[in-house]
Formats: sequence, C-alpha cells, structure tokens
Amino acid sequence: MANVLVICGSLRKASFNAIVAKSLPALAPAGMNLITSPPIGDIPLYNADVQEKGFPASVTALGDAIRKADGVIIVTPEYNYSIPGVLKNAIDWVSRLPDQPFAHKPVALQSASQGPLGGARAQYHLRQTLVFLEAHVFNRPEIFVATAQNKVNDKGELTDNVTRDFIKQQLEGFAKFIVRVSGK
Ligand SMILES: Cc1cc2nc3c(=O)[nH]c(=O)nc-3n(C[C@H](O)[C@H](O)[C@H](O)COP(=O)(O)O)c2cc1C
Repeated sequence: MANVLVICGSLRKASFNAIVAKSLPALAPAGMNLITSPPIGDIPLYNADVQEKGFPASVTALGDAIRKADGVIIVTPEYNYSIPGVLKNAIDWVSRLPDQPFAHKPVALQSASQGPLGGARAQYHLRQTLVFLEAHVFNRPEIFVATAQNKVNDKGELTDNVTRDFIKQQLEGFAKFIVRVSGK
C-alpha cells in the first residue's frame, strides 16, 4: 500500500484544484491510499526570527505528514504565472526543518486553472523549487486542467472524462515511480 499525501495550493472553498484533489481517490489504482495534508492556510508567513524560536506546530505537522508519506501530490493553481504564495510559503517553511521532508520524496504535480494553459507555468516553477529540495518529481503524463470551470459540475465534481483518464494514467505511473524510487 502506498500512502500518498495530497497538498492543495488553493485555500478557496470552491477551488477547482480542491475539486481535482477530491477526485483522486476514485481515480487511483488499487494499493494507493490518498491522504489530505494538514492545512497549509494555518502556516504563518515565513520569518527566520519565528523559526529561531521554534517551528510552528502547523509546519511540523506538514513536515511530519510529508516524511510519513510514500509520495506527495501537489495540486495547485497558477498565480501570476507562478506558484501561489500560500503554497510557496508552506514549502519554504518545511524546507527549513531538520531531516528535510521533501528530500528523495517522490512527488507528482497537477494544476487546474481557469485559463487555457492549465497552470503549466506554476508547475514548472514548482519543479524548479523541488529540484533544490532533492525531491524526485514524476515527469509524465503531466496534468494541466485548463479551463477547469468547464470540467466540473455544480456538485463540485470533476466530470471531464478526458481529464479523468489522464489523471488515472498519471496515478498509475506515479504508483510505479514510487516503487522504483523508494524500492517499496
Ligand atoms: C492572484 C491571482 C493570479 C492569477 N493568475 C493566474 C495565472 O497566472 N494563470 C492562470 O491560468 N490563472 C490565473 N489566475 C486565475 C486562476 O486560474 C483561477 O482563479 C483559479 O480558479 C484558481 O484556482 P482555484 O479555483 O483552485 O482557487 C489567477 C488568480 C488569482 C487570484
């Protein structure tokens, strides 16, 4: 059984990325268990002076959850062609933890946006950040949910079958990748 932590980069209640994240358990292969990450919206803005006094509990909770997981999936919007501040802030905090949680961790990326590129630019910036953290980022298939507003229903479900199929393929590939990377 692979336990995979899902981190959503949007705090919005009706978030399209949260809808994508919520769709994952139904699309995952047998043996992949998806776990929602501790909330990243509770993490204060990074400040080394705060860190010196001790890591906030919200940061250690996220770090512990990442370390414990066999893999991580980050589902995020793109803000101004890049990573939303709230997600970057969470990553910056956990990157300062001892036994850096992302080191050698298999990570898959997904993004949803209301624009035509589906958050591709944010994903590539995220890949760059994860290089420094020594994460093992899964290559492809990549998941860019473009014009996400047309791919969900009013119950907050991802309904677009092409997107659902791509996600299935990514999760199947990611399950094998976790085994390859971690030998589990
Ligand atoms: C501050 C801000 C910047 C944005 N910049 C982009 C952008 O660069 N590219 C893009 O495709 N969408 C951009 N959007 C639109 C988002 O795709 C849209 O708000 C999306 O619904 C956000 O994801 P969510 O539904 O998961 O919250 C931006 C939205 C906000 C609030």
